[in-house]
Amino acid sequence: MTDIWQSAMDHAVALARKAGQVVRDAVGDAQKEAVMVKSSSIDLVTQTDQKVEKLIIQSVKEKFPTHCFIGEESVAAGEVCVLTDSPTWIIDPIDGTTNFVHTFPFVAISIGFSVNKQVEFGVVYSCLQDQMYTARRGKGAFCNGRPLRVSHEKDIRQAIIATEFGSNRDPGVVDKVFSSLKRVVSIPVHGVRGAGSAAINMCLVASGCVEAYYEIGIHVWDIAAGSLIVSEAGGVLMDVDGGLLDLMSRRVLAANNQSVAEHLAKEIDAFRVRRDDAA
Ligand code: IPD
Repeated sequence: MTDIWQSAMDHAVALARKAGQVVRDAVGDAQKEAVMVKSSSIDLVTQTDQKVEKLIIQSVKEKFPTHCFIGEESVAAGEVCVLTDSPTWIIDPIDGTTNFVHTFPFVAISIGFSVNKQVEFGVVYSCLQDQMYTARRGKGAFCNGRPLRVSHEKDIRQAIIATEFGSNRDPGVVDKVFSSLKRVVSIPVHGVRGAGSAAINMCLVASGCVEAYYEIGIHVWDIAAGSLIVSEAGGVLMDVDGGLLDLMSRRVLAANNQSVAEHLAKEIDAFRVRRDDAA
């Protein structure tokens, strides 16, 4: 049977590669780029983020004129952020903008594609490492064509956990983030890491070198593609409180299996943040 979304997925991979070249060309000059701020002084955006998002959206519009978009920089510029049942491209032109600005080498182009609010394919291109992560629903997850499988570890005490501090430095939020982190470190786990890119953290879970990743404060464009890459690699996704994952809730927990995920969820202070689709 033909896969009706295959040509869209092929286009996404080609666009991620093209966008990756734009980012690689700019990264040497990233520190000279005008860095602008969004929700806070540490929520950064550059002209390269905007250029890459424009490049992707223009090209998709030409090829798939009826499709919808949720793009990080378009939303920042005032577009609505609502996930409908229509075929929708969910784009983070540079996931890891702070890394990009500092030339810290984990920077990804993340493209998720959803239909009926279900992610059909995900593409995460870690462009400075030249690692192309892809997943098509029901057909597995791959990195540069090599199949991905999550770690078999069932004991969270033998795990590496990825997380991030996010970009909210409100003292109350920082307290909650650190109290969760203290509990996680004290389980004790083998280690805590953070790549500085939600999409890459999720691909690390899918690759089996990190058992789980959690964060509160991410956005749908940070996790849409990665969520499918994790599940197609055999992993699980949930809300940080152990409930069902809601892509618009700005909270995510991705893990290699249910037992690691549930243990981790018990240690996290699952505070609420303004949803991506809040009116
Ligand atoms: C950010 C990165 C970071 C995470 C933030 C995200 P951006 O995305 O994924 O790791 O901690 O929550 O917003 O802004 O670089 O696209």
